[in-house]
Amino acid sequence: MNFRDIPKVELHTHLEGSAPPAFIAGLAREKNIDISGIFDAQGGYAFRDFDHFLQVYEAACTTLQSPEDFRRLTLAVLEETAAHGVVYMETFVSPDFCGGGDVAAWRDYLAAMQDAADEAERTMGITLRGIVTGIRHFGPDQCKIAAACAAETKGDFITGFGMAGGEMVGRPGDYAYSFDMAREAGLQLTAHAGEWGGPSMVAETIRDLKVARIGHGIGAIDDPKLMAEIADKGIVLEVCPGSNVVLKAVSGWDAHPIAKLRDAGVPVTVSTDDPPFFHTTMTDEYDMLAKTFGWGADDFRALNKIALDAAFCDDETRARVAKRLE
Ligand code: HPA
Ligand code: ZN
Repeated sequence: MNFRDIPKVELHTHLEGSAPPAFIAGLAREKNIDISGIFDAQGGYAFRDFDHFLQVYEAACTTLQSPEDFRRLTLAVLEETAAHGVVYMETFVSPDFCGGGDVAAWRDYLAAMQDAADEAERTMGITLRGIVTGIRHFGPDQCKIAAACAAETKGDFITGFGMAGGEMVGRPGDYAYSFDMAREAGLQLTAHAGEWGGPSMVAETIRDLKVARIGHGIGAIDDPKLMAEIADKGIVLEVCPGSNVVLKAVSGWDAHPIAKLRDAGVPVTVSTDDPPFFHTTMTDEYDMLAKTFGWGADDFRALNKIALDAAFCDDETRARVAKRLE
């Protein structure tokens, strides 16, 4: 079956991490930035493991230096994503990597991003919402700056606050102040947890950060009681199987817990995370889920309904996107 044309909802992507390597290499040339070390001989991103991935990611981000870079990047990403049937997408975007945490600069970056999103909505039929994101391994104080940027720019376009980055740093509760600030500003919340950490990291993220969704969350598989709690509370996991396989969070597609999580009643969704880094697309993710677990059109329809119900958008947008899924 050809899964490319199935309309899809994707909740977990990173804007900077969706940048095609050729796009970043082009910016580096324009600005005379030497980041040749982050590419392999074929011009793809080269990294050894998760920590090295984070370093390569950060180096790539040094080329994104202006709102115009952001506008071009957003358009390029939406074009690629729409080509795989995605009709609604959310993307993490971090003021730590672009704009340096300065709120005025951040507004300009986001205005350019929204400009591109408006154009894509008109020309490609894809809707984008942004989740301003703190970087966990930069520490709690830096995360507060990201939360302030999120609170200042909350609106129809920036609808959420999140946290990504190295997970095995401190505990989720160390970041509660930032999540409280974002919640009080009216933002919806998600945090990466249980990509590397076990059930306790997921449980503390739910308890201390009071998130509606968890990025990855696959570590919950080791605790049936936690899975029942997640199912009961309707907390949605943004699962990114292709990312987990490439970064070796799991040993391979056969070992991925997504099917067991779903069978335990956990609301799971599927996303690409950082497609060019992990050599994946939404079509590839669906192909591999079909091949590995026998999932088909009905399963994907159900996944997309869960994703749209959990999307950080207003109900009018949700209803508009729902029509594209019919
Ligand atoms: N995990 C944590 N941080 C990230 C990721 C990820 O998969 N992608 C981009 N930042
Ligand atoms: Zn991620």
